[in-house]
Amino acid sequence: MEQLIDPFGRKIDYLRISVTDRCNYRCVYCMPLEGVAFKDMSEILTYEEIALFAKAAYDLGVRKIKLTGGEPLVRKHIYKLVEMLRNIGYNDISLTTNGSLLKNYARLLKDSGLSRVTVSLDTLDKQKFREITRFGSIDDVIRGFDELDKVGFVNTKINSVIMRTYNIDCVESLLEFALLRKYEIRFIEYMPTDFNEDFKANFIPIDEIKNIIQKNYLLKSTNYKTNGPSQYCEVENTRIGFITPLSHNFCAFCNRIRLSSDGNLILCLGHDIRINFKAVLRQGSLDQTKELLKNSVLKKPKQHQLLTTNIHQSFSNLGG
Ligand code: GTP
Ligand code: 5AD
Ligand code: SF4
Repeated sequence: MEQLIDPFGRKIDYLRISVTDRCNYRCVYCMPLEGVAFKDMSEILTYEEIALFAKAAYDLGVRKIKLTGGEPLVRKHIYKLVEMLRNIGYNDISLTTNGSLLKNYARLLKDSGLSRVTVSLDTLDKQKFREITRFGSIDDVIRGFDELDKVGFVNTKINSVIMRTYNIDCVESLLEFALLRKYEIRFIEYMPTDFNEDFKANFIPIDEIKNIIQKNYLLKSTNYKTNGPSQYCEVENTRIGFITPLSHNFCAFCNRIRLSSDGNLILCLGHDIRINFKAVLRQGSLDQTKELLKNSVLKKPKQHQLLTTNIHQSFSNLGG
């Protein structure tokens, strides 16, 4: 079978698809309060166009899909896309969400064949939750977690971005919540974006977060590795992860490409290279899409330049 191999010998088998640039939250680290100039729906790929891209990727050896946004659940009938991806042959399809709408959609997503869900959660405190997300309510997200458990999702994960002035004091309560509910929590280092001018004041290296945890917990290192960017430790026999794009660069193992909601292929979060697939997808040709994808992967850069340039992407269109 044909495979996507980049110039540095990395096998690309993971596709992240941003299904919308819209979101019902305005997290301080992601978007300004007034939002961003959202794309017109005519510029956004249809589910058929996304599925065509996914089929080309599948034929070239991609086996894992992540659906992201913006907030993927604000796009109508997203479960239909999950069904379409299943029908192509994918059986590892996960979704990263802010959790606010899971209370309505968890069952449909489960029935459509979604493999698992990751929820972004940076605090459990009502006030702080509102401060960070600006529009969100923690109660909705807790109901979302309840619904995930109820409909039978397992391997649920939590992503927590830890920032000095917002939630450094929430590390322990987040960990406790994850341990109690048996979710895998990953602490993520804050990354610079187009909107977070407060980046320097808020960046916390992961080692500092580990120190906080170690005050009250025994943090054991493990050799567990996935093809994701997380390093893993164990607390009370439960796995917890640390995602450290800045302090410990994981680019050497990068296995992923991203498709933006408006049909651009992004080869790396920390580079400006974009390859426009919209025209080819709108023509509907599988062969042309595969050809363009094979050629595009040859342009994948060796590593991100987040610390040395000011190429800071907006997560709202790239889904992290
Ligand atoms: P699963 O563990 O299978 O759910 O996959 P994942 O860890 O790739 O998915 P998730 O969407 O939860 O990603 C976790 C976070 O890691 C993202 O939100 C980003 O903050 C960060 N991240 C993921 N991929 C990259 C990458 O290629 N480069 C950088 N710098 N950060 C990334
Ligand atoms: N730094 C680190 N993580 C971020 N995310 C969004 N913006 C940033 C940032 N500036 C994370 C969210 C979510 C994922 C999709 O991206 O918390 O878990
Ligand atoms: Fe929305 Fe996620 Fe960005 Fe927050 S981080 S504004 S939930 S896309």
